[in-house]
Amino acid sequence: MPVPGPGYSITIRVAAPPSASVAGDLTSAVGHVGGVITAFDVVDSHADSVVIDITCNALSADHARDITEALRALPGVDVRKVSDRTFLVHLGGKIEISAKVALRNRDDLSRAYTPGVARICQAIADNPDDARRLTIKRNTVAVVTDGSAVLGMGNIGPAAALPVMEGKAALFKKFAGVDAWPVCLDTQDTEEIIRAVELIAPVYGGINLEDIAAPRCFEIERRLRQKLDIPVFHDDQHGTAIVVVGALRNALRVVGKDMADAKIVVCGVGAAGSAIIRLLLQRGPADIVAVDVDGIVHRDRGDTDANLRWVALNTNRENKAGRLHDALVGADVFIGVSAPNLFGAEQVATMAPDAVVFALANPDPEIDPLEAQKHAAVVATGRSDYPNQINNVLAFPGVFRGLLDAQAHTITDAMLLAAADAIADVVDGERLNASFIVPSVFDAAVAPAVAEAVRKAAGGH
Ligand SMILES: NC(=O)c1ccc[n+]([C@@H]2O[C@H](COP(=O)([O-])OP(=O)(O)OC[C@H]3O[C@@H](n4cnc5c(N)ncnc54)[C@H](O)[C@@H]3O)[C@@H](O)[C@H]2O)c1
Repeated sequence: MPVPGPGYSITIRVAAPPSASVAGDLTSAVGHVGGVITAFDVVDSHADSVVIDITCNALSADHARDITEALRALPGVDVRKVSDRTFLVHLGGKIEISAKVALRNRDDLSRAYTPGVARICQAIADNPDDARRLTIKRNTVAVVTDGSAVLGMGNIGPAAALPVMEGKAALFKKFAGVDAWPVCLDTQDTEEIIRAVELIAPVYGGINLEDIAAPRCFEIERRLRQKLDIPVFHDDQHGTAIVVVGALRNALRVVGKDMADAKIVVCGVGAAGSAIIRLLLQRGPADIVAVDVDGIVHRDRGDTDANLRWVALNTNRENKAGRLHDALVGADVFIGVSAPNLFGAEQVATMAPDAVVFALANPDPEIDPLEAQKHAAVVATGRSDYPNQINNVLAFPGVFRGLLDAQAHTITDAMLLAAADAIADVVDGERLNASFIVPSVFDAAVAPAVAEAVRKAAGGH
């Protein structure tokens, strides 16, 4: 059951008669239609009216309109203005560049810019590795998208993807001090994307691919990793895989099972599912059975897609066929990165005792978490309004902090696994329980722990 949240937060300015009951009338009207008031400010007062800003959370844009109409319908109430606080946050964008050097006089100018800067340019021309020491390359990451798989909205294009990429850049800075910049490319052609990233790479110490649709994302990442001497990381794949593997380690600790005995169903074999399967396989589970929109992935299905063929060859020891419901019978773990509302409590009941269910489809999970809880011992989702939120923010800032600090040229599975363990280890034995298998995204210990683990795995000190 969704609850009104700050994603749809509005401030409604009303003028109302200054009666003793005005506050109660206004707040009741909002509450009656399900709005949640978070602030109530009298901003002006006259003999015949008071002007009040009512800030409240709604469920959706339509619900926000219903709340406004409920206030407008009150006798004597005049709705003057409605501000959408989420839009206000985005006016003019969410990030900016600021200079690290003072430019107060000719002296400063001569060092930061010409003529002094020419000696720095020459040093880099003589020794290209110096770019990592003497330029923004040391701390800068490109957040590259083609806008083809943006959040739950799909292919909305590069300009519409920009607010997400700006948000990502803001998170990089906030959690790990990484300077990230959005690079939204006006092409969805694999070769053009590869070439464009190759051409801009000199400026950056790492490439974070973002919201690029499968299967194109696999080829783009693979080829860029071959071509570039900086790490290339597709967050929708590896960021998710890191957090899932870390969370699963803790979930299995809670239920007292070993990875080596765990039978795992992964539903969704797209960007996230494929990467989860590949990383999990390194941890040696008893078996993984992958399921996609066409059912269980097996060797006789005749898939032509290279990714699905690889998955068929490396999972499903018994080469089972069937649907998701068949795969769930006797499974210890369900990991969903697929589509909303695929099964109910009755299917969870067919899983092994003390089942673990990660239902991560956003915004609506594969199973309602309250239904899953009826039979599962541990439940996680991608949502912030339930316990155990699997959120990539736990991984990507620290991963890039570590990569940049190590001046890494590549990223390896060993680094991804080190990051997963670091996230899991932030939840110590004292705090670990079925409702707390991953740390909060605001836990300041996470990014430094992940960074250190990645830096060490990259051979840094
Ligand atoms: N941290 C998180 O919580 C997190 C991270 C990554 C992705 N996700 C979510 O996981 C989902 C998938 O993301 P993606 O980027 O991998 O998408 P994708 O489009 O690359 O892959 C989707 C996969 O789901 C499968 N699928 C679709 N409908 C299905 C059905 N009815 N039954 C079984 N399988 C079905 C498809 O066949 C495909 O393999 C999205 O909802 C996304 O929001 C959540």
